[in-house]
Amino acid sequence: MMRSGIFSAVALLALSASAAAQTNSKAAYDELCLSCHKQPQRLSARLANTVEARAKLDDFLVKHYAPDAEKRAAVVDFLYQGK
Ligand code: HEC
Repeated sequence: MMRSGIFSAVALLALSASAAAQTNSKAAYDELCLSCHKQPQRLSARLANTVEARAKLDDFLVKHYAPDAEKRAAVVDFLYQGK
């Protein structure tokens, strides 16, 4: 009983942390990208699901409206969600 209580608390924490991360990534995208790229799924669809493509996107975004490392990581996460 005690054990399963602890497990659910941990599971709940993990869940809310990932929900928060998703909200933040969307917020970062909305702030930095949405004004020009109205449809994130169009960008997302063109991304290859490889470490190299992800690194390349990250590199590109340093000079493309996302100089802040933390927000850039959030934006990259957002575009790779569901990949
Ligand atoms: C001020 C307008 C503007 C903003 C803000 C902007 N972009 Fe762009 N982006 C463009 C334009 C213009 C192009 C180049 C031509 C095209 O593909 O339409 C482009 C190209 C890109 C490409 C390359 C697309 C391809 O053709 O392969 C990606 C990926 C991209 N943007 C992602 C982002 C992300 C992520 C953000 C937010 C951090 C962002 N952009 C913010 C205008 C913008």
